[in-house]
Amino acid sequence: MTEKDEIITIDGPSGSGKSTISRELARRLHYTYLDTGAMYRAVGLLALRRNIALDDEKGISSLLSNFDLQLLPGKHDTRVLLDQQDVSEAIRTPEMGMAASRVSALPVVREKLTLLQQQLGSRGRVVAEGRDTGTVVFPQAGYKFYLDASAEERARRRCKQLHEKGQDVNEKEILTQLIRRDQDDSSRTIAPLKAAPDAVIINSSRMTIVEVLDFMLEQLAKK
Ligand code: DC
Repeated sequence: MTEKDEIITIDGPSGSGKSTISRELARRLHYTYLDTGAMYRAVGLLALRRNIALDDEKGISSLLSNFDLQLLPGKHDTRVLLDQQDVSEAIRTPEMGMAASRVSALPVVREKLTLLQQQLGSRGRVVAEGRDTGTVVFPQAGYKFYLDASAEERARRRCKQLHEKGQDVNEKEILTQLIRRDQDDSSRTIAPLKAAPDAVIINSSRMTIVEVLDFMLEQLAKK
């Protein structure tokens, strides 16, 4: 396998620990971390800021024909620049998660972002995380994981994360939103959330981050 083909995908529902684990795995392997969810969040934010309805495919399509999105590796999260403005904090709210999920069901958005993601991954040595990175974006990836956990555990983790960032959130509301978002993401027609047939499925409900990482590194070493 050449370096160009070295792509690791990590898909799964929200709050499954994908981001923390993908970022850490990329750091350990000296790979680039590709946060595809951040891209959908940025499109959701842009549509809301321009007062375009989240299901207005025509309106969003014209937004996409003229937008500049940059992902830069940050200390904790990917820094996201939208038309040169840092929106890294603004996209990380539960509302932007819902907005991202809605725009992500539009074919025009998926087409554009999938292409961008494939370009970003074209040099290989990438850990890509999202919902469809192993099934649609990088079906050729040499290593695929699907990370899951119970909805309650995921809501608890997400709440803790948001509290640490100073956001005041209610765990019950987060759980309701998370279940709804998973249902929407899994039931959409294009590129729904699902495990690739060749993905290693990990249920992390009772695992620590270190345990999941160790397990993944073991799997990678085996291949
Ligand atoms: O991973 P996240 O919570 O930042 O993702 C936000 C939303 O973006 C998610 O609910 C669905 C959408 N998404 C997607 O459709 N495909 C991806 N590869 C990544 C995210």
